[in-house]
Amino acid sequence: MDKIPIAVLASERGSNFQAILDAIDRGECAAEVKVLITDNPEAKAIDRAKSKNIPVEIIDKKAVPDREQFDLEIKKKLDEYGVQLVVLAGYMRIIKSKELLDAYKYKIINIHPSLLPAFKGSTHAQHDAFKQGCKMSGLTIHFVTDDIDGGPILYQEAVEISDCKTGDEVADTIIKIEHEAYPQVVDSFARGKYEIQGRRVIYVAD
Ligand code: GAR
Repeated sequence: MDKIPIAVLASERGSNFQAILDAIDRGECAAEVKVLITDNPEAKAIDRAKSKNIPVEIIDKKAVPDREQFDLEIKKKLDEYGVQLVVLAGYMRIIKSKELLDAYKYKIINIHPSLLPAFKGSTHAQHDAFKQGCKMSGLTIHFVTDDIDGGPILYQEAVEISDCKTGDEVADTIIKIEHEAYPQVVDSFARGKYEIQGRRVIYVAD
């Protein structure tokens, strides 16, 4: 089957990016990463891309301070690489450009380490869940819209965190499940189609 051309956007460590690369190597994710785009010249994700000979595009937020301009630079790269799916994997920047969001409507997905709408918009949702004393948290994979962490949900999984002693432990517990779930959702995207009915996402296998 044809592999779907994807872009991955990551700002930091990129372990979800690595999980997708590993699943592709195992033949479990029908995607080809055409480009890694990052806003952080120091991101560890860059080394992960280089070790696989995947092109890296660094759009430094300090060099392009205007938010709209920054997003349009991203759009230019996505167009250039001809991607059909944009995977945000620890991309810690809000996409603000309507032009970018409209051009890639229902083609940008994000992973968030909570059961949305819990801890919506947080950049440390796992620590928030720990501080709240939550016994369960989880992860959500959703389409990206102008509603931050509020787009239609493709996938959710609850994770028990009652034994965790710190926020970091919660993060370590949830990310293991993220690594399993994200490549599977990318694979589903490649193999079928997602229909959006109101706020609900219905998966239709090809
Ligand atoms: C992941 O836990 C991801 O869910 C989270 O950042 C981490 C990135 O880890 N994303 C957000 O919090 C988005 N608001 P990684 O760089 O090792 O994939």
